[in-house]
Amino acid sequence: MNPYELSHRAADELREMTGVGSYDVAIILGSGWREGATALGVPSSEILSSSLSGFVAPTVAGHSGQILSVRVNDKNVALVAGRVHLYEGNSPDQVVHPVRTVIAAGATSVVLTNACGGIDPAKGPGTVVMISDHINLTSTSPLEGAAPPAGYGARFVDLSDLYSKRLRALVNATVPDITEGVYAGFRGPHYETPAEIAMARTMGASLVGMSTVLEAIAARHLGAEVLGLSLITNYAAGVAAGALNHLEVLEAGQQAASSLGALLARVVPVL
Ligand code: HPA
Repeated sequence: MNPYELSHRAADELREMTGVGSYDVAIILGSGWREGATALGVPSSEILSSSLSGFVAPTVAGHSGQILSVRVNDKNVALVAGRVHLYEGNSPDQVVHPVRTVIAAGATSVVLTNACGGIDPAKGPGTVVMISDHINLTSTSPLEGAAPPAGYGARFVDLSDLYSKRLRALVNATVPDITEGVYAGFRGPHYETPAEIAMARTMGASLVGMSTVLEAIAARHLGAEVLGLSLITNYAAGVAAGALNHLEVLEAGQQAASSLGALLARVVPVL
């Protein structure tokens, strides 16, 4: 079965298990965002993503695989907790399968959230930045391999408006103090060297992480509008004194949880 058919099978299972006929918005929850997302309301259902076809289990502390369904005003929102990454040994198709599934289940707006390192010394841990564009340094693409089957969009997909200008303008109108930055997506799982961060800065990036870029490409390819929100959990390597560690990333996420939730509660209704 090709990855697109697999996502449709998973979407049918999702609709069946949740009773939600069609989703409008999907939010992929990165480290730290899960706790805050409860501010969107009480989920009408909470299912294990491992019960859906094609989903692989996360192996990272702080990520558990679940899909929560929440109604926000007139919108059905899918909250996807427990992202999977390339660095866990997953293929690009496996990494983007949750995004393809929620789009197959109807979502036309996809919010990709993440925890990231900050390259700009003026933006410290706890700051949320809207992604204006990305630099994909993973050397791969979810579109690599056999051409997408008929009906699934061009293989040579245009990414000149990857992080939707329209959605960014809507968010800006609602949260005027939010700033934007370019996200550089590395493969990890090691953190970057100071030299790699200097390279990313020279390239124009101000955020650095190990997720998001492949999911954004896959979502755009399927015609969804993409919004990216990054929580800076630490200064990137070499930006500030001291070593980086995963615990610090998780703690910064936990500390920011209530403000992330408040932000999502303001953003989702305007999407
Ligand atoms: N680098 C890459 N990924 C990250 C970082 C970082 O500094 N912080 C959180 N995720």
